[in-house]
Amino acid sequence: MNIIVAIGGGIAAYKTLWLIRLLKKENHQVKVILTQNAMHFVTVTSVETLSENPVCVDLWSTSETSSHENEHNMHHISLAKWADFIVIAPATANRISLLAQGNCQDLLGNVIMASKVPLAIAPAMNRQMWENPAVQKNISILKERNVEIFGPARGSQACGDVGEGRLLEPEEMMAEIDRWVRPMTPTFSHLLITAGSTQEPIDPVRYISNSSSGRMGIEIANYAYQCGIDVTLVYADINPKLLDGLASNIKRVCVQTAQQMLVAVENQIHQGRVENKPYEMFIACAAVSDYRPAQYSEQKIKKTNENSFTLELMKNPDIIRQVALDKKEGLPYCAGFALESENLLQNAEKKLKEKKMDIIFANPVNSINAQLSSITALWQVGENMVSKDFSYDEKSENAKYVLQLLCQNYVKNLREQKTI
Ligand SMILES: Cc1cc2nc3c(=O)[nH]c(=O)nc-3n(C[C@H](O)[C@H](O)[C@H](O)COP(=O)(O)O)c2cc1C
Repeated sequence: MNIIVAIGGGIAAYKTLWLIRLLKKENHQVKVILTQNAMHFVTVTSVETLSENPVCVDLWSTSETSSHENEHNMHHISLAKWADFIVIAPATANRISLLAQGNCQDLLGNVIMASKVPLAIAPAMNRQMWENPAVQKNISILKERNVEIFGPARGSQACGDVGEGRLLEPEEMMAEIDRWVRPMTPTFSHLLITAGSTQEPIDPVRYISNSSSGRMGIEIANYAYQCGIDVTLVYADINPKLLDGLASNIKRVCVQTAQQMLVAVENQIHQGRVENKPYEMFIACAAVSDYRPAQYSEQKIKKTNENSFTLELMKNPDIIRQVALDKKEGLPYCAGFALESENLLQNAEKKLKEKKMDIIFANPVNSINAQLSSITALWQVGENMVSKDFSYDEKSENAKYVLQLLCQNYVKNLREQKTI
């Protein structure tokens, strides 16, 4: 995980040096931003040595960390893009106020403004300062913006006072950060997932498709990989920029049509069984065309003088149904998605049963290319239908939830079958 640790100008800044050590021990990549005032409390040398990275202190310094060519000298943007998580420790009363205002006068302010990743602050200050209504008001503003507040602790303070305002101990901060950044422990090891939208050719230049971006599948694949799961992605027509974001160790198979996707999926499942690494989980996330042209024209179809043109379509294979029917010893657990423009839950339930899926994630049609999507998961326990709603601002967060639920349900399913 790429973590930015920002150190503010507070007396407790020395504790953050130990936090950097703890993060490094857990194999996190750490880049440190020192505010100008923080440099009165800790040195660049200590921070660079512990973090094993150049320290970032100035908005105007030439970027050493910029990996994006068009961001030369835009240190704040490249840092914001690099990070998966940002923590400010100690967060001084001044910094808390700057954050609440959205102030961008220094490097840290700009990085925060340019970042969308989770932000946590560990306040540390004299107890009177902490109790000050201005500070408390600023804290409540930050909470409303989903900034995570670590501590502060109560106890004796550097100034001699006793009360609330102490920076959490490094181990306590580490435990808080862990809750955010540690991926869950997966309950299965091999995942086969489809994503993107199939294309059904009509002639050499035309095809039937749909507007699914493939983003959800990519997000699930990446998160699964991050959790240590071995992932294979079978995909059709995903924007290359989106594919660039796929973890490089994820095995990928590119197809165009629904028929090709079925063949690729079946090959993978077969191969997995032969190699004794059966896919325990299959997630059908691709938007597969239900129909394809009955005939493909080798030549481009010409416009005629007729006012209408009839294209005969025939049914495509139903990939998830096929996989569910071919299960061996209950594997793979089959998860599908239902995108519906009406009667969302009734239609999703019907699909779940007809296609013999283990679980279905129902999406309203307006989520197809949106960042925000609300999802209802439906699955059967005995005779009863169980449902769970969730909705996060980012598809990546929804993807995490999807995978967490699948991990839980996979184990419950095994227990029901008494295989564990
Ligand atoms: C010796 C000393 C210790 C300080 N400790 C704290 C502190 O623990 N918490 C705090 O909010 N401000 C503290 N301050 C005040 C901050 O350094 C000051 O508000 C500064 O503007 C904060 O800088 P920053 O916004 O870069 O963190 C301290 C000042 C001095 C001189």
